[in-house]
Amino acid sequence: MKNIKDILIQHNQQHLIPVLESLRGDELARFEKQIEQIDWDTVDLWKHPEDLSGKGRVEPINGLTCTEIRQNRDKFLQAGVSALQAGKVGAVLLAGGQGTRLGSDAPKGAYDIGITHPVYIFERLIANLKDVCLQCGCNVPLFVMTSDLNDGATREFLSKHDYFGYPEQFVRFFTQDMAPVVDFEGKLMLESPTKAAFSPNGNGGWYSSLVKARVLNDFPDIEWLNVFSVDNVLQRIADPIFVGATILSGTNCGAKVVRKCDPYEKVGVLCLEDGISSVIEYYEMTDEMANATDSQGNLAYSFGVILNYLFNLEKLHQTAGKHIPVHVVKKKVPVLDSDGNAVKPAAENAYKFETLILDMVRLMETCLPFEVVREREFAPIKNKTGVDSVESARKLLQFNGVEI
Ligand code: UTP
Repeated sequence: MKNIKDILIQHNQQHLIPVLESLRGDELARFEKQIEQIDWDTVDLWKHPEDLSGKGRVEPINGLTCTEIRQNRDKFLQAGVSALQAGKVGAVLLAGGQGTRLGSDAPKGAYDIGITHPVYIFERLIANLKDVCLQCGCNVPLFVMTSDLNDGATREFLSKHDYFGYPEQFVRFFTQDMAPVVDFEGKLMLESPTKAAFSPNGNGGWYSSLVKARVLNDFPDIEWLNVFSVDNVLQRIADPIFVGATILSGTNCGAKVVRKCDPYEKVGVLCLEDGISSVIEYYEMTDEMANATDSQGNLAYSFGVILNYLFNLEKLHQTAGKHIPVHVVKKKVPVLDSDGNAVKPAAENAYKFETLILDMVRLMETCLPFEVVREREFAPIKNKTGVDSVESARKLLQFNGVEI
């Protein structure tokens, strides 16, 4: 116990000493383990968030437009289908987020977006993947990333629904790592009287967590991983045309993109940074960049990323251990207040520490922007109503002929 107490003192977390001293048995062991596993260098970032504005020389990147994709469709399709049939492609579903904006305690994928009958987010995603399996005549290994907060509930939900008809032997789960949550003075917070508050450490940790879980070993032929978010119910997963185009382009990764609908749309855009593929966030763009146009008068930085990437596994192995920035993000985190009452805050009350998948594009060095039609492939669900919501996704699903 002394050791843990010293750690708390050393890192200015004395407010937790009474908690430590009040615990016994399993609760004490769990609390000590929580404190032991903390990476204090990360926690210290709350004082000096990494300067994420220091971008290198940024230039527009060339990508495949919808027209070019249509013109080369057969060639791309053939290359993609043969890669899929050879077992070279796996799909990684990022479902470790907390979905705080949607405001449900259940896993986001278990959210029912149906109108006339239940339609779950997971169900839609799996239906999209099954379409590809049917088209190619093969199954695609599906790796589902969860977090400690939703792992049990996610597995139970999918199992209860028979994986929505997906063959269970092609599904693997793995959990992502957690990071502590601190208040705006850098103090660790409590989730319950006996437990420090931890939250998932962002979607940038998916690859290290996947490797740690050793689930790739079951599918030794995989060379490419299509990583996608839980919340875009229209996306094509393991899309053979995207797979084929990326492989034939010789790049280390591909990114599905939509054309930005206005210069200030809040999406990250693909670009070149010092000659290397990179994603620049909307808040990092200057007015000049946001409004820059190409020779045809189109926005020069117009390829908005939609969190659907195809990564080359060999290149991912090479990037293992390379630096990826930790973002210090203000979020609403349920915690105990100073009187020991559990509160669901109405405003942001804590810093979370997250790495982001979009920062991996830079590590991959080359990336193919692959344009998709927004109304056909992009219906993200972040909120209950308004922009990127259950409401807007329902309309888009109906527009695409999906009965909900
Ligand atoms: P978001 O950035 O939308 O975050 O995640 P979120 O946690 O789901 O939602 P909010 O911001 O709290 O409302 C984009 C994708 O990354 C996954 C999410 O599950 C979603 O598929 N993600 C996010 C993780 O898998 N782990 C994380 O730690 C964060």
